[in-house]
Amino acid sequence: MKGFFISFYLSIFLVLFQRETESAQLRSNGIYIVYMGASVSSKSDPRNDYDQLLSSLMERKKNAVIHSYSNGFLGFAAYLSEDEAKSIAQTAGVVSVFPDPVLQLHTTHSWDFLKDQTAVEVNSNPSSTSGSISNGTDTIIGILDTGIWPESESFSDEDMGPIPSQWKGTCMEGHDFTTLSCNRKLIGARYYDEPGSSNAGASGTPRDKNGHGTHVASTAAGIPVKGASYYGLAEGTAKGGSPGSRIAMYRVCSLNGCQGSAILKGFDDAIADGVDVLSLSLGASDGMEQEFSVDPIAIGAFHAVEKGIIVVCSGGNEGPNSRTAVNIAPWILTVAATTIDRDFESDVVLGGNKVIKGGGINFADIQKSPVYPLIYGSSAKSIHALADSEARNCIPGSFQDDQVKGKIILCENKDNLYFALQKFESLKKQGAIGMLLINNDERAVASTFGSSPVAAITEEDGAKIISYINSTRNPVATILPTVVVPKYKPAPVVPNFSSRGPSFSTRSLLKPDIAAPGVTIVAAWPGNDTKGVVSGKGPPLYYVLSGTSMACPHVSGVAATVKSLHPSWTPSAIKSAILTSAIQTNNLQAPITTNSGSKATPYDIGAGEVSTSGPLQPGLVYETEINDYLQYLCYTGYSLTKINKIASSLPANFSCPTKSDSDAVSNMNYPSIAISNLKENESKKVIRTVTIVDQDESVYTALVDAPSGLDVEVEPNKLQITKNSKKVTYQVTFRLTSSTKEDMFGSITWTNGKYKVRSPFVVALSNDSK
Ligand SMILES: *[C@@H]1O[C@H](CO)[C@@H](O)[C@H](O)[C@H]1NC(C)=O
Ligand SMILES: *[C@@H]1O[C@H](CO)[C@@H](O)[C@H](O)[C@H]1NC(C)=O
Ligand SMILES: *[C@@H]1O[C@H](CO)[C@@H](O)[C@H](O)[C@H]1NC(C)=O
Ligand SMILES: *[C@@H]1O[C@H](CO)[C@@H](O)[C@H](O)[C@H]1NC(C)=O
Ligand SMILES: *[C@@H]1O[C@H](CO)[C@@H](O)[C@H](O)[C@H]1NC(C)=O
Ligand SMILES: *[C@@H]1O[C@H](CO)[C@@H](O)[C@H](O)[C@H]1NC(C)=O
Repeated sequence: MKGFFISFYLSIFLVLFQRETESAQLRSNGIYIVYMGASVSSKSDPRNDYDQLLSSLMERKKNAVIHSYSNGFLGFAAYLSEDEAKSIAQTAGVVSVFPDPVLQLHTTHSWDFLKDQTAVEVNSNPSSTSGSISNGTDTIIGILDTGIWPESESFSDEDMGPIPSQWKGTCMEGHDFTTLSCNRKLIGARYYDEPGSSNAGASGTPRDKNGHGTHVASTAAGIPVKGASYYGLAEGTAKGGSPGSRIAMYRVCSLNGCQGSAILKGFDDAIADGVDVLSLSLGASDGMEQEFSVDPIAIGAFHAVEKGIIVVCSGGNEGPNSRTAVNIAPWILTVAATTIDRDFESDVVLGGNKVIKGGGINFADIQKSPVYPLIYGSSAKSIHALADSEARNCIPGSFQDDQVKGKIILCENKDNLYFALQKFESLKKQGAIGMLLINNDERAVASTFGSSPVAAITEEDGAKIISYINSTRNPVATILPTVVVPKYKPAPVVPNFSSRGPSFSTRSLLKPDIAAPGVTIVAAWPGNDTKGVVSGKGPPLYYVLSGTSMACPHVSGVAATVKSLHPSWTPSAIKSAILTSAIQTNNLQAPITTNSGSKATPYDIGAGEVSTSGPLQPGLVYETEINDYLQYLCYTGYSLTKINKIASSLPANFSCPTKSDSDAVSNMNYPSIAISNLKENESKKVIRTVTIVDQDESVYTALVDAPSGLDVEVEPNKLQITKNSKKVTYQVTFRLTSSTKEDMFGSITWTNGKYKVRSPFVVALSNDSK
């Protein structure tokens, strides 16, 4: 072994010897993440391989190492050449070496767009206000995001008790951020910047220069703030899902996105700091998903969960196509987004006072009666516009001034080149008054247009307006400022953008896990933001955003509340409590639908809409053991040697089955059930074990909801709970009796009169989606 190390170091040395080590040259190399698995080996040997590799690298290549990880897991991030990376990947202690990926925030609009956006904000998130909010005072939610604006009233520590003794973290000083920026609510803050990086003012501080981190932190654990609103719109009490919990912010994102190496450092610190819950509203984009050993979130989350920390992540905004969900590892709680019962309406008034319901948020101050000439973009194209489609979509430069001056322009939005406000800014420079944007998604999920008279309308209404324009000599219109329609029905509804299952890696694990409010969520915002400002007004202190980014912290807040009530529960018990108590009906008492009107399936919403009270007393929970996760790794192709490095402790008799098939994944003790590759007239069995968390003597009975063509048998179908019951195992047999080609959905609910413990199931007929 010793000989191997010497020759290894020699070869590294030779590679390095030929290279200069000054920083400019370092940076011309890429950043690579070297992942070495658990910080203690399963045989409880000290991991000398890590120290040796790291110190030899640092010795030979000064300043190459950017971050080192040693608390929750072992590894480091360093500037390496491709050859060096390859060479290190061959070393005995190394699990994987991969280029540092840049992940994105899961808001519906890009970072650039956020910069362009003109303000908005509002108040409470109805779904998180239902009376069940407990103290959560000893629970710490760690958030990996863009930083925090500590002065927000949502982070006031009035009436909060002393900082929990488990807290070992710190409040890092930085630009415009001192230890006094933290308090008994915001108990810690850290930031991670690449050395020498210039991040246009966003570096060198935990302070939030974007707004996203402040928004999600207040949604997870902001205290109740009365009278919060976006310039009076949607006024109410803003509060987080677990107002008593403490917040620790780890700024892992810069203006360029969220670097994987920084995310891993955030996990590594958070694990050592003593957080209970980790909330990540970010991830890979669709098509960029990676398997475990090269996915920083999956790696960090695995080690956090091993240490008892529940990890909640957004599932992505790349719906409505299937297999778009990200952050789908079985140890992560993956969150989809739904609407709340509130619509932002910006009505359009046509000649004859005909009203069309528009969407989006604007504070325009133009005449309320329809006095402005209305034209359709395609009828006004300049000779410069190359194609009719450019004018129809109101691409900047398509018009001459006299064509749009003083008018409201009707535009399509099919170009994917410009954001609505970019189009309007260009029209406005040419003298246009307002813009109507034909786009179903913009109508369904309100964007913020600030003082600009812009309204989004559906395609159906767009056609009506076009025929109105055709029907009259002098078409006219106006756009009214936004009003909030409360108690909107139906809600919740799954918006287009929410990423969908099944999981891209296997059909034997249901993802996403759960859905939560993620459309037009009002939460805290940086206090001197400029992009959110409507002209003539001060910065908004609360702002409206949409995305699975906003859904994630709702669930993190619920998880923290459960944790504070049941401090000894494992991450998987908390996840189970959240999944098995989820809700499947909307405010019309009908099944939750997607925005196309069809019934939402578990591929859209997982177990359903998160309940804020149900998870506190679930009756029974499914505990997924670390061994279940390791079996999943076997299935995804990891050798026992690698798994041995990844896991902190491995039972001596642990082994990967010789043929690890997807049925092993179906048999993880997960709170939902997914079966793949079921053939007509064939059956498959899965085993589940429930842990009793309410010891009252009772009998649980299984209720099966299965579609026709599928026989589902639960054995036994009664569970007798006694004072001494701890765990009970049952078996479910799925038998396909029809020749359908569609995946099938249903549920199994255990009920004893007091509790309902529901597991959704999906039965896929095909092979795994790999
Ligand atoms: C909050 O904590 C106090 C004292 O720890 C307790 O008496 C009270 O019931 C808690 N409130 C809720 C809503 O759990
Ligand atoms: C949602 O997506 C579908 C398919 O891509 C599209 O036809 C529809 O217009 C979108 N928007 C809404 C609000 O349904
Ligand atoms: C409007 O008029 C144009 C040209 O006269 C015609 O091509 C188009 O089909 C009309 N559209 C509607 C919706 O009536
Ligand atoms: C916002 O406030 C901070 C100090 O609180 C200051 O450093 C920063 O320059 C301000 N930004 C703007 C745009 O006013
Ligand atoms: C491994 O050993 C434990 C007890 O030492 C036992 O409970 C478990 O069933 C064994 N697992 C396998 C796969 O043999
Ligand atoms: C399944 O069983 C039914 C009834 O016995 C039979 O009609 C059908 O052909 C079978 N299908 C297949 C694929 O074997």
